[in-house]
Amino acid sequence: MKNTASTLLKQKQSGEKITMLTAYDYTTARIEDECGVNSILIGDSLGMVMQGFDDTLPVTMDQMVYHTKMVSKGAPNAFIVADMPFMSYQVSIEQAVANAGRLVKEGGANAVKLEGGAEVCDRIKAIVDASIPVVAHLGLTPQSVNVFGGFKVQGKTYEKAEKLLNDALKVQDAGACAVVLECVPSKLADIISKSLLIPTIGIGAGNGCDGQVLVYTDMLGMTTGHTPKFAKIFADAGQAMKDGIAAYIEQTNSGAFPSEEHTFSIDDEIIEKLKKGKLSS
Ligand code: KIV
Repeated sequence: MKNTASTLLKQKQSGEKITMLTAYDYTTARIEDECGVNSILIGDSLGMVMQGFDDTLPVTMDQMVYHTKMVSKGAPNAFIVADMPFMSYQVSIEQAVANAGRLVKEGGANAVKLEGGAEVCDRIKAIVDASIPVVAHLGLTPQSVNVFGGFKVQGKTYEKAEKLLNDALKVQDAGACAVVLECVPSKLADIISKSLLIPTIGIGAGNGCDGQVLVYTDMLGMTTGHTPKFAKIFADAGQAMKDGIAAYIEQTNSGAFPSEEHTFSIDDEIIEKLKKGKLSS
């Protein structure tokens, strides 16, 4: 069944949790889709986990379109959400609509995601008016890392908590179909989730959210270095990959690989004839 903004909304209304994972390529998207994840996010986190940068800021529109294309090919059932990268929607409403359009038209996305509250509501409204569903993103918005001074929990003071709640209501009024809440205290995320008609999808925001999203390399143990507190490892694919690669190196070096079962045969007569031909010439 194809997941859409409406099926996600129905899940909130019926109390059925929404699952979202990031993916950046065809094969990963296919596996996630086959497992039945509701939504796949082509996050601009690809700048960190695929490209090795320290933050998401260098990611370009062309790269987002490229990765979105691969993911949407592999995931016919999931609701495909593509991130709008840094500076693809900040400059003008016109640019925001044109770039959102590229992610849908060229990339095959079903929706776009952009970061911010009241200050981006005019963008959200214009993109929704162009018939493109928008997922908002509040709390720790990684494109503002230089303003926050690092990747930190947001909304801990009364004023900041109140602003987050107001921003959530404003992005809903602007037409957003869902809101990602990142690194928000769980009791605050719970209040926001209960105050909104649209679903909240939390990452480091507790289980009061209507759904959860994780970066797939984090939850499969493939991230090296620092992993955030909220990133539970559900399976250690990182270690499984290391074991497999070490076994390949060892068996190739020893000659155990490739064995008969991984080799193609040819009629011995042909080989004999070839050898004779070579010797007589
Ligand atoms: O870019 C991303 O992967 C995200 C998630 C962390 C929500 O925005």
